[in-house]
Amino acid sequence: MATTQDDLTAEVIASFSKTQDPRLKEIMESLVKHLHAFAKEVHLTDEEWFAGIKFLTDSGDMCSEVRQEFILLSDTLGLSSLVDLINHSKGNDLATEPTILGPFHIQNSPFMKYGDSIIQRSLTEGEPATVRGRVLDIHGKAIAGAVVDVWQTDANGLYDIQESTEVSGNLRGRFTSEADGTYEFQTIRPVPYPIPNDGPVGKMLRSVNRHEWRAAHIHAIVEATGFRSVTTHIFDKESKYLDSDTVFGVKGSLIKTFEKQSDGHLLLNHDFVLVQA
Ligand SMILES: [Fe+2]
Repeated sequence: MATTQDDLTAEVIASFSKTQDPRLKEIMESLVKHLHAFAKEVHLTDEEWFAGIKFLTDSGDMCSEVRQEFILLSDTLGLSSLVDLINHSKGNDLATEPTILGPFHIQNSPFMKYGDSIIQRSLTEGEPATVRGRVLDIHGKAIAGAVVDVWQTDANGLYDIQESTEVSGNLRGRFTSEADGTYEFQTIRPVPYPIPNDGPVGKMLRSVNRHEWRAAHIHAIVEATGFRSVTTHIFDKESKYLDSDTVFGVKGSLIKTFEKQSDGHLLLNHDFVLVQA
């Protein structure tokens, strides 16, 4: 029977001794060790403990088919980016750096042809832009037949699945790299957007004087046979919030410039470099 705080922690950790799955045992023991250390370090009061329970309850209540408040919580506490760093080191200094997937990816976006537009609406808002580049291995050799899956928000800062319960396919698509490794698509310049802020996570951000904005980006997953796939972003160098992205997803090597051409059209060049599997 525990008589001190440390005895109690030891007793709870020991309670997992008969766990059959060794990984589950390791995770539960470590979770209790760090959870207890946290409560002791901040001297958690009764009221604060209950406020924490209420926050988690409210977060659960906020979740639906189209809303995952716990992923937002994980993102805004940097846990998603940390898990990404732990599991998806780029493997080679020359390879494209990965970053978080985010909640707005759709499997099986339509395949499009080289140079096609991913804009599925009449273009009234947003700056038209061309994104092109090559898919390469770390020796600079072209990878043909790589699949480049891209998605981004519209000029209003919303993904298609935030605007409607249907997947309209607006501003998402898959492209296959050509024999010389090149890919190209037409889009609009991405804009910064706020993560959903009408739930407990938004309230948490406001209470600690943080904003809810993500720096402007295009998402990409690049896959090729024989290579490790990469889940990444392309960030706009001119965007606000590059130094304070609310989900900690920005990496310097992923920041690129939309160059204004003589006719005023924007062009962004970005090569994806993959490591052999
Ligand atoms: Fe995004």
